[in-house]
Amino acid sequence: MLRFGQQTYLIALSCLAMSFSLDRFVDSFQSQHRRADSDRISLTTEDRLEDMLWWPTKSVASRGEYIGTEECAKCHSSTAASQMSTEMALTSSRSVDSAFLDGHGALAFQQAPYSYEIERKGDAIRYSVGDGQSFISQPLLFAFGQGIVGHTYIYQVGENFFESRLSYYSALKALDLTTGHLRSVPPDLERALGRLLEPREAKKCFGCHTTASTTANHFDPSKSLAGVTCEACHGPGSKHVHAMKTGQIEEGKKNILNPSGLNPVTSVDFCGACHRTSGDVIQMGIKGVATVRFQPFRLEESRCWSGTSGQLTCLTCHNPHEPLVHESGSYDHACLRCHAQSSSRNLGSDRRITACRISNKNCVSCHMPKIEIPGMHHAFTDHRIRIVRDAA
Ligand code: HEC
Ligand code: HEC
Ligand code: HEC
Ligand code: HEC
Ligand code: HEC
Ligand code: HEC
Ligand code: HEC
Repeated sequence: MLRFGQQTYLIALSCLAMSFSLDRFVDSFQSQHRRADSDRISLTTEDRLEDMLWWPTKSVASRGEYIGTEECAKCHSSTAASQMSTEMALTSSRSVDSAFLDGHGALAFQQAPYSYEIERKGDAIRYSVGDGQSFISQPLLFAFGQGIVGHTYIYQVGENFFESRLSYYSALKALDLTTGHLRSVPPDLERALGRLLEPREAKKCFGCHTTASTTANHFDPSKSLAGVTCEACHGPGSKHVHAMKTGQIEEGKKNILNPSGLNPVTSVDFCGACHRTSGDVIQMGIKGVATVRFQPFRLEESRCWSGTSGQLTCLTCHNPHEPLVHESGSYDHACLRCHAQSSSRNLGSDRRITACRISNKNCVSCHMPKIEIPGMHHAFTDHRIRIVRDAA
C-alpha cells in the first residue's frame, strides 16, 4: 500500500506571511474555536490552516521556535517515552538512523534489464540501478513509513525530491515496486530509479511525515525533525519551555496548544490534518471503498456519530501518545459507554441507545471490519461503525 493518493488533491498552502504570535495564542484560539462551534461541519485542512494560529502541518512559525522532543521529555518524561514508540513518531527516518534499513546489510532487486541495490557505504546509504552498460546512484535521504507495512525512500537531485521506484515491504522482507509506479520497464535509468515529486507534493509528503520541514513558509527538509513529534501536534514549543523553566505556569500554558478542549468536529478535523478531514475527502472527490483509508470521513458517516452529535472522537478510542492497540476487546469500553445492556440513560440521550443481541464483547471485530483497498495490498479498519450485512 506504500502510497497515498495525495497527488489527487492539492492544498493551496496559505502563503500569507502571518506573524506567529503565541502570546495571543489561546485567546484567539478560543474565539476561533467558538466560531467553529457554531459551524458543526468538517472543514477542509486548507481552511483550517488559514483560520487557525496553530494547526498540524501549518508552516508559518520559524525554525528557531521548534525545540525538539528531547526538550519536552525533560518535564513530560512518561508521555515522551511512550509517544516516541508510536507509529506516528517513527513514520520517517533519516539515512543516518539505525532504523533506516531495519538492520539489513544490503537489498537487491532485478527487473530486466535493470538491477537495483540499496546498501550502506560509509555514512551514506546508496540506492543504485544499472542496466549492464551504465549505472547511476543516489544517496537516500529519508525512509517514509514506520515499517509495519514497509518503507518508501526519498532522495534529492539538485533542488528536486524523488520518490524511489522500489519500496521495502516487511511482509515480503524484500524490495518491490512502490504502489502507484508502473510495472512496465522504464525507458531510462533516471526513471528506473524513481519519480520526481512536484515541489508542492514534496512539501505535503514531508508535512505529514516529518516535523518543521516547512518553516517561515520555506520548505527545507534538511532541517526537519524526523517523524510526527510533539510539536507537530502541539505547535512549536520554545516559548512554552522558556516560560515553564522560569516558573510562569499560566503563561506557559498559553504558549502551547492542548487539543483536549476542542469540540468534536474540530477535534476530528485536527487529526484529519494528516488523516484527511471529511471536508478534504469531499474536496478530493474520493468515493466508495477508497474512502476507508480516511478514518475521519468514515467515522462521521456512522450513526454513532450522527446520532450523538459527535460524542465519540478519535480520542475516545486512540491515545495519540501510545502505539495503536490491536486487541479488539480493548475497545469494548468505548462502545459500552453508549451501548450498555441497561442503557436507558446513556450519555444524556433522550432516547435509549440499543444494545447488541449477538455478543457483549469484541464489538469492533464485527462492527469495524478490515477492508482491503484495491491496489493498496493493505486492509484498513472501517471506521464507519455499522451492522455488516453483506460484502457491501
Ligand atoms: C521545563 C518543564 C517543561 C518542558 C521542557 C515542557 N513542558 Fe509542557 N508543561 C509543563 C508544565 C509545568 C505544564 C503545566 C502542567 C499542569 O498544569 O498540569 C505543562 C503543560 C503542557 C501542556 C498542557 C497545556 C495546557 O493548557 O493544559 C502541553 C500540551 C505541553 N505541556 C506540551 C509540551 C511540549 C510539546 C513540550 C516540548 C516542546 C513541553 N511541553 C515541554 C512543563 C514543561
Ligand atoms: C495529508 C497527509 C499525508 C501526505 C501528504 C502523505 N502522507 Fe503518507 N501517510 C499519511 C498517513 C496518515 C498515513 C497512515 C495511513 C493509515 O494507516 O491510515 C500514511 C502512510 C504512508 C506510508 C505507509 C506507512 C507504513 O508504515 O505502512 C508510506 C510509505 C507513506 N505514507 C509515504 C508517503 C509519501 C512518499 C508521500 C508523498 C509522495 C506521502 N506519504 C504523502 C499521511 C500523508
Ligand atoms: C502531522 C500529521 C499527523 C497528525 C496531526 C496525526 N497523525 Fe496519525 N499518523 C500520521 C502518519 C504519517 C501516520 C502513519 C504512520 C506509519 O505507519 O508510518 C499516522 C498513524 C496513525 C495511527 C496508527 C496507524 C497504524 O497503522 O498503526 C493512529 C492510530 C493515528 N495515526 C491516530 C491519530 C490521531 C488520533 C490523531 C489526532 C489526535 C492523529 N493521528 C494525528 C500523521 C499524523
Ligand atoms: C498526533 C498528535 C500528538 C502528538 C504527536 C503529541 N500529542 Fe500530546 N496531545 C495530543 C492530544 C490530541 C491531546 C489531548 C488528549 C486528550 O484530550 O485525551 C494531547 C495532550 C497532551 C498533554 C496534556 C495533558 C494530557 O496528557 O492530557 C500533554 C502534556 C502532551 N500532550 C504532551 C505531549 C508531548 C510531550 C508529546 C511528544 C512526546 C506529545 N504530546 C505528542 C496530541 C498529540
Ligand atoms: C470506536 C473506536 C474508534 C474510533 C472512534 C476511532 N478509531 Fe481508529 N481504530 C479503531 C480500531 C479498532 C482500529 C484497528 C486496530 C487494529 O486492530 O489494529 C483502528 C485503527 C486505526 C488506524 C490504523 C489504520 C487502519 O485503518 O486500520 C488509524 C490510522 C486510525 N485508527 C485513526 C483514527 C482516527 C484519525 C480517528 C478519528 C477520526 C479514529 N481512528 C477513530 C478504533 C477507533
Ligand atoms: C457516543 C455514543 C456512541 C458510541 C461511543 C458508540 N455508539 Fe454505536 N450508536 C450510537 C447511536 C446513537 C446509534 C444510533 C442507533 C441507536 O440508537 O442505537 C448507534 C448505532 C450503532 C449501530 C447500528 C448501526 C446501524 O447502521 O444500524 C451499531 C452496530 C453500533 N452503533 C455499534 C457500535 C460499536 C461497535 C461501538 C464501539 C466501537 C459504538 N457503536 C460506539 C451511539 C454510540
Ligand atoms: C460476532 C459478531 C458481533 C459482535 C462481536 C458484536 N456484534 Fe453487535 N451485532 C452483530 C449483528 C450480526 C447485528 C445485527 C443483529 C440483528 O439484526 O438482529 C448486531 C447488532 C448490533 C447493534 C444494533 C442493535 C439494534 O437492535 O439495532 C448494536 C448497537 C450493536 N450490535 C453493538 C455491539 C456492541 C456494542 C458490541 C460489543 C459489546 C457488539 N455489537 C458485538 C454482530 C456482532
